[in-house]
Amino acid sequence: MDKFVIRGGNPLVGTVRVSGAKNSALPCMAAAILTEDEVTLENIPQVRDIETERRLLESMGAKVQLGYGRAQHRTTISCSTLSDPVAKYEIVKTMRASSLVLGPLVARAGMARVAIPGGCAIGGRPIDLHIKGLEKMGATITQEHGYLEARADRLRGAHMVFDKITVTGTEDLLMAAVLAEGETVMENCAREPEVCDLSALLTLMGAKIDGAGTSTIRVQGVPRLHGARYRINPDRIEAGTFLVAGAITRGDLIVANCNPNHLGAVIAKLEEAGARVDILGADSVRVRADGQLRAADISTEEYPGFPTDMQAQYMALTTQADGVSVVKENIFENRFMHVQELVRMGANIKVDGGTATVRGPAKLSAAAVMCSDLRASASLVLAALVADGESILDRVYHMDRGYERIEEKLRGVGAQIRRMGNVFNPRESESAAD
Ligand code: EPZ
Repeated sequence: MDKFVIRGGNPLVGTVRVSGAKNSALPCMAAAILTEDEVTLENIPQVRDIETERRLLESMGAKVQLGYGRAQHRTTISCSTLSDPVAKYEIVKTMRASSLVLGPLVARAGMARVAIPGGCAIGGRPIDLHIKGLEKMGATITQEHGYLEARADRLRGAHMVFDKITVTGTEDLLMAAVLAEGETVMENCAREPEVCDLSALLTLMGAKIDGAGTSTIRVQGVPRLHGARYRINPDRIEAGTFLVAGAITRGDLIVANCNPNHLGAVIAKLEEAGARVDILGADSVRVRADGQLRAADISTEEYPGFPTDMQAQYMALTTQADGVSVVKENIFENRFMHVQELVRMGANIKVDGGTATVRGPAKLSAAAVMCSDLRASASLVLAALVADGESILDRVYHMDRGYERIEEKLRGVGAQIRRMGNVFNPRESESAAD
């Protein structure tokens, strides 16, 4: 099991570069299913979930070339033949975003068998809204032996209103709609930037989409899509994580290769908490914090509200803020797995249902702690960066799912962090030298 060893106390100073967005890359890779032509994606992050998606697509008969050369992190996907349109349980159980192949498979092949993704550390993670939308578009869906089977000769455009805002639900059904017969109108859609990334790729492939990034998306179905080349946007959650790292360590950190327009809620909250944030042009943000941090409440909301994927990281910051901060998690039912580990490091946090009350500032002391999920891991790294002494973080494979070589990036701006065990390396890339 890989571990991180982190000695706290160093302010982070310098420039750190953000990788491509995992949560854009995953739907965009699935979109390659919709055409027989090659789809090339650039700025793909070198993280475990991308490797999982590659194995998933290859298991269905796709050819996936994944290269992390110096110049470009790039993947080229060819789904000219899909010999086995089945998303098998042994892959789906490791990444629930595998359900993103459901819509494109039905749209392309007329059928799909997808293992029903179980829950995960942060919640039940149902996909009932994906199913409801596909049935509205004429798919017949049965469930047995832990698998969903969806069939449709050709999906029909439909008018649907999501009961709840769902990011991958919006993405899955958008990919189903682009090849459907007629017009599809989807209301109460997710407005996350990752939906816009996917829509931009689909449009390059020949899809006719209006309204991505708003609550209502209209799609005119087309008979087929062609290949395209597209560059994935920077990861706004990785960028937000580094901004919190600069603030909590009282550093002076430039987060480069990010998109400040996607960070509004996070930047506003950091300023409310007493950090100084400057936007340096189109792709960099500078964060400084030398004075006392102030308590500031958060309540997680769908985009453009404060992101649930930043809740754990922000909670680490509130342990160092002067006063009482209330952290309300509204999106997932169990996204406080980091709390007990932060308390073991000396934080003063009380949880009541979906609300955590944090009293600061608390002096954190280094400890051996356990990572439980992707963003909880990030929270523990942030706490260890300011804790007194040397912390050991176990099960950092959770971190490798969504953060590319995080220890190298943090070490590059002054953190005392090293990995015990093997650095995560996807299978040797076929095109190492881009
Ligand atoms: C996406 O998950 C992200 N993953 C998550 O990021 C993120 O936390 C989440 O959106 C919310 O922003 C990817 O994009 C791959 P949802 P998703 O469907 O789409 C309920 C990370 O850390 N719901 O928007 O699975 C659901 O239970 C990951 O990078 C239904 O009830 O989340 C939740 O309470 C973690 N039925 C709420 O909606 C459904 O059919 C929002 O979930 C679908 C969802």
